[in-house]
Amino acid sequence: MKEQLENIYNSAKAEINEAKSINDLDEIRLKYLSRKGEFNSIKKGLKDLSDEDKRTVGAFANQISEDLENLLKEKHEIFYSKELNEKLQKDRIDITLSGKYTPMGKIHPLTQTTNEIVTIFQNLGFSVVAPELSPEVETEYYNFDMLNVPKDHPARDVQDTFYSKIAENVVLRSQTSGAQIHVMENKKPPIKVISPGRVYRNENINARKNNFFHQIEGLYVDKDITFGDLKGVLNEFIRQYFGASRPTRFRSSFFPFTEPSAEVDVQCIMCQGKGCRTCSGTGWLEILGCGMVDVNVLKGVGIDPDVYTGFAFGMGVERLAMLKYAVDDIRLFFNNDKRFLEQF
Ligand code: DAH
Repeated sequence: MKEQLENIYNSAKAEINEAKSINDLDEIRLKYLSRKGEFNSIKKGLKDLSDEDKRTVGAFANQISEDLENLLKEKHEIFYSKELNEKLQKDRIDITLSGKYTPMGKIHPLTQTTNEIVTIFQNLGFSVVAPELSPEVETEYYNFDMLNVPKDHPARDVQDTFYSKIAENVVLRSQTSGAQIHVMENKKPPIKVISPGRVYRNENINARKNNFFHQIEGLYVDKDITFGDLKGVLNEFIRQYFGASRPTRFRSSFFPFTEPSAEVDVQCIMCQGKGCRTCSGTGWLEILGCGMVDVNVLKGVGIDPDVYTGFAFGMGVERLAMLKYAVDDIRLFFNNDKRFLEQF
């Protein structure tokens, strides 16, 4: 019986040596060591032995089945780590590879500037005019007539304004001020609005002028609106946009649609008031036009100037962006040169 056990042990050992995978080992275990395996069927014969033999052969049987278990376990560990390594090798992730480049879009500097200005005025209680009340294609009526611009005003000249060849009296608007008329025709005071948009002028293009650019129009009409309110709102805007330390001045001026009218200057950003090429030696830069809405304009849209007063203003977005970011050529905003645009 001992001999039988030895034979089984040897052939099991040989099979374990030849095994090629965890699967093979499982089969070997089943064949020899399971309940119905070869060892057990021999061990059943133990009961026919003498007590003495039972002890020695039994001990021997236990000994070799334990050996086999250990051999199987060793082999199993070898196969397991081998298979694991192969899998790791195959599924390997190289964490040192750099990530995929995803190009990110940016908001155009003029849109950024517009958004910034609009937000400042929104926080001061202004709301943005609906686009249909601020069209880029206008009639002379809205662009000039209703704004009290005389028939012979030079701004109406084809040298300055683009006229449509398709329809008479149709222009590409030369200013956003026409939005004032649309708004006042559509709504009774109190009116407190801003209107950003594109305007067109028949200019020779150079570093300071383009034949289209952007403006932001403002209009505040209510009872008891004074020039003091105008100054308060615009000074607060300048404080927020340029910072509190930037000196500002109101200079008297003329516009057909406001009376009195003013222009607002800020101290030159480039030379801090010393006088340079940018400010033509004056130390000041004009940033907007403004004034109290002219009585004729209010009358034209049926608002009683004895009851209501108002102020209006208009500013150039390119100008404000150029001053803030020290851009010296307006054409840079429209060339779509990524090296320029990526800086914002
Ligand atoms: N429309 C004027 C321009 O294009 C700017 C302007 C000046 C607008 C005075 C206004 C204003 O509303 O009150 O030069």
